[in-house]
Amino acid sequence: ALSAKHVREKQRLLVVANRLPVSATRKGESSWALELSAGGLVSALLGVRQFETRWIGWPGVNVQDDKGQKSLSSALEEKGFIPVFLDEETVDQYYNGYCNNVLWPLFHYIGLQQEDRLAATRSLQSQFSAYKRANRLFAEVVLSQYQDGDVVWCHDYHLMFLPKFLKEANSRMKLGWFLHTPFPSSEIYRTLPLRSELLKAVLTADLIGFHTYDYARHFVSACTRILGLEGTPEGVEDQGKLTRVAAFPIGIDSERFIKALETDMVRSHIQKLRGRFAGRKQVMLGVDRLDMIKGIPQKLLAFEKFLEESPEWQDKVLLVQIAVPTRTDVHEYQRLTSQVHEIVGRINGRFGTLGTVPIHHLDRSLEFHELCALYAITDVLLVTSLRDGMNLVSYEYVACQNTKKGVLILSEFAGAAQSLGAGAILINPWNISEVAASIEDALTMKEVERKERHRHNFMHVTTHTAQVWADTFVSELNDTIVEAELRTLR
Ligand code: F6P
Repeated sequence: ALSAKHVREKQRLLVVANRLPVSATRKGESSWALELSAGGLVSALLGVRQFETRWIGWPGVNVQDDKGQKSLSSALEEKGFIPVFLDEETVDQYYNGYCNNVLWPLFHYIGLQQEDRLAATRSLQSQFSAYKRANRLFAEVVLSQYQDGDVVWCHDYHLMFLPKFLKEANSRMKLGWFLHTPFPSSEIYRTLPLRSELLKAVLTADLIGFHTYDYARHFVSACTRILGLEGTPEGVEDQGKLTRVAAFPIGIDSERFIKALETDMVRSHIQKLRGRFAGRKQVMLGVDRLDMIKGIPQKLLAFEKFLEESPEWQDKVLLVQIAVPTRTDVHEYQRLTSQVHEIVGRINGRFGTLGTVPIHHLDRSLEFHELCALYAITDVLLVTSLRDGMNLVSYEYVACQNTKKGVLILSEFAGAAQSLGAGAILINPWNISEVAASIEDALTMKEVERKERHRHNFMHVTTHTAQVWADTFVSELNDTIVEAELRTLR
């Protein structure tokens, strides 16, 4: 049989995701500023260096003029990034609408408020058409880049039709699809209008991957219950054709973080931060996109409860919350921003003094060196996601904590709870009292225990890396295709 590894080394990898790793802002008729995009997908995939990769995606900006498209394309192509240009209307209907107001909340078990859900239902058909239209545009760009033998790896809930459109154009294309969010229980998924079309479209891929075994199981159940197909230990079978479904837990490029800690830039930033936080005995950290799935209000309420119940900590502990704005055109996100600001204001008003406040809240992303420094010097990371595909922030924190051995408080609803659970303090973010008690436990944990917990997590983070994740997925995809070919010969 062909060795999968041997085949892989000669392959080009076309990564297709809604967003490119950089988002562009126009600075002049033909000049562009490129800024690193936020989120786990980008941070993991940028760590995948072992393939000859071309990345296809939306540059995050509306460019309709020829000159603009050409100049941006060439700025991006220098870095191996190929843009898919989407007009404003498509972005609104496809990205803000169907992706972020329909699929995203549903996949994360989030009930929209009644009025929003009704509004979403009314515009569903037009958003669904825009979703398909956008997926077609992605397919056209992929086909323009495709060379025989390439592996095409489609990512996330934005692109569930992409495997189908690509296979219709070229049935021999090696094609994988990976979901970076949870896939919900079939009982939730089946409330989605137009639920079958999406499942059928994804099933045209050769290999379908999820972060956890539970998400994979939910997907297979949805296929059996909604489409009446057969679920097997290998995947989903439709009239003798098998689509492989499996779990491939993602990781980070841990080396990048560990090496960064040795640089002068990070070291001098660590010194600066130490000076700034000198008045506090311990510093806790939260790093999230400002998203409803991250449970930021729940985190703040738990911190407030902790301060209420442990007055001796009131001027000794600081919570630094980095909340990176995202999807700012979607109503739910605007509401969340105001809610978070209101709670932070209340807590700082209640427990602050003329000199200090207990929460430093920033609505912006940080430079890489600033982030590494913060990860390295803080005592506790608090992850309170209500649902989260994996949560790579917890991995990044662990990678930067080899000196300090800080404590990770981690939501049991993040995929990472399945890999870092043994080293973390697991919490149910809805139970504010439990989270408050865990904060106390984390702040007072003895060094021996912190060391032991950290050792376990550090070992996991540095061995289950982004590179291993991509290698495993692509090897499995190759093997799947070889096996399918062999099956047809039998
Ligand atoms: O799977 C989650 C995801 O789609 C990832 O790309 C990333 O973690 C995040 O959402 C980014 O969201 P957006 O591109 O909508 O800002």
